[in-house]
Amino acid sequence: TYVIAQPCVDVKDRACIDECPVDCIYEGPRKLYIQPDECVDCGACEPVCPVEAIFYDDDLPDEWGGYRTADSEVFADLGSPGGASAAGPLPSDHPLVSALAEQAA
Ligand code: F3S
Ligand code: F3S
Repeated sequence: TYVIAQPCVDVKDRACIDECPVDCIYEGPRKLYIQPDECVDCGACEPVCPVEAIFYDDDLPDEWGGYRTADSEVFADLGSPGGASAAGPLPSDHPLVSALAEQAA
């Protein structure tokens, strides 16, 4: 599946949302998250992110290895909400994101 790594934190450009045909990119307080069961691996979101935060999980740079599972872990309790625009923002970020100091824009 595709995942969103650290460059999105505190940037949240949101260009990716407009590209996703299945509305599976959910907004958290400081980063956006791809719901792995809803994502159809189309790849449309990856090239439009201006800070290159989106990766196919196997292609993640080592420095952001924690982001291989962060998006899926955020949905551990929420399951599959069935669409980000109807579900609204997520209540909290993954601990990996919450622990970061504010990222310079
Ligand atoms: Fe984040 Fe890039 Fe989308 S900054 S909100 S992953 S366009
Ligand atoms: Fe959505 Fe396709 Fe990306 S399903 S999250 S735009 S890979």
